[in-house]
Amino acid sequence: KPLFWGVDVGGTNIKFGLVDDSGKTLHFDHIPTQESEGPQAAVDRTAAVLAKVQRDLGFSNADVPMIGLGTPGSMDIPRGYLLDPPNLPHWWNFPIRDAFAQATQRPVAFINDANAAAYGEFWVGTGQRQDSMVLLTLGTGVGGGVVVADELIDGANSFGGECGHLIVDPSPTARLCVWGGGRGQLEAYASASAVVDRTRERLTAGGTSSLSGLLGGSNSELSAKAVYLAAEQGDAMALEIVDETAFWLGIGITSIVHVIDPGLVVLGGAMDFGGETSPVGQRFLEGIRKEFHARTFAHVAKGTEIGFASLGGDAGYLGSAGFARKVYSKRMP
Ligand code: BGC
Ligand code: NA
Repeated sequence: KPLFWGVDVGGTNIKFGLVDDSGKTLHFDHIPTQESEGPQAAVDRTAAVLAKVQRDLGFSNADVPMIGLGTPGSMDIPRGYLLDPPNLPHWWNFPIRDAFAQATQRPVAFINDANAAAYGEFWVGTGQRQDSMVLLTLGTGVGGGVVVADELIDGANSFGGECGHLIVDPSPTARLCVWGGGRGQLEAYASASAVVDRTRERLTAGGTSSLSGLLGGSNSELSAKAVYLAAEQGDAMALEIVDETAFWLGIGITSIVHVIDPGLVVLGGAMDFGGETSPVGQRFLEGIRKEFHARTFAHVAKGTEIGFASLGGDAGYLGSAGFARKVYSKRMP
C-alpha cells in the first residue's frame, strides 16, 4: 500500500511525516520555517529533506505517490496559491502547490492547515467514530476545519470553515482581528494572541495579579501558557481570562453548531489551558458548554459533544497525509 507525506507549514516550523495507509507515522521531523527566505527557498529546502529521508529509508517516489501540503490561509485551493496568509508575509501570491509538486516530482494535495488538522482528528484522532465534526485550532489565530459526511468543506473561495473569522461582536468598538483586519471576529477574542492582549489590557488598567511581573516582558513571557499557569495557582485575573475565553468560544460554537450540527466540536492548537487532565482545562470546557447550552436547543445540547482534540501538534501533518491518501484513492480506485 502507498505511503504519503503530510506536510504542515506553520509560521514557526514546517512539520513533515511519512504516513502509511492506516495513519501510522514511519518518520517525523520538522525544520524551521525561515519566513523571510521566501517561499521558493522554503519549498526547495523542504523537498530536499523529504528526498533525503526517503533515500535513507529506502523508499522511491513510487512508494510515496502523493504529498499532502497544509498551509495557513488565505489561499486559493483550486489554483494552488497562497494569497495573503498574515504570518507568512514574504510568501504572498505564490503558487505553492505547483512549486512543491515540481520540487518533489509528485502531485500535491493542497489544503488549509486547520482543515488538515480537522481531517487528521477525523481520520485517526478523536473524531474517528464520527460522521461529521468541527475542529477549532487555538493558536496565534483561530483556525477552523469542518468535516461533513467524510468531506472537508472548502467553499467557493477556499474560505469554508474559517471559524476564526466568525463575527461574535458586531459593535464598532469590538476587538480588532489579530491581523488587524476586521473587527469582532472570534479570533480577536479567543486566540492565544487575544488572551495575551486581554491580559495585558487588564494589567495595564491596574488589575492585580501574579502575572503583573510579566507586563514589561515580551509575548513569549506574558503568554497564554503563563495565564494558564497562573490560573492553575488560583490567580483570580487569570481565571477570569480563562472564563471569558470560554464565553466567547461558547458564543462562536453555538453559531457553528446551528449551521453545521456536527455532533462533535473539538479544540486543538497550542492553547488548551492544560487540556483534559487539568482542572483549569476542565473549567475551560465547562465554561464553553455552559454558554452553548444556554443558547441552543435542549436536544442539540444533548446531542453535541465538546472536547479537546487528541493528536496535539501532530494533527496537521497527519491530516495532510490523510487528505493526500483520500485524493489519491479517488484518482486511482
Ligand atoms: C487563518 C486560517 C488558519 C488559522 C491558523 C487564521 O487566521 O485565517 O486560515 O487556519 O489562522 O493558522
Ligand atoms: Na479552515
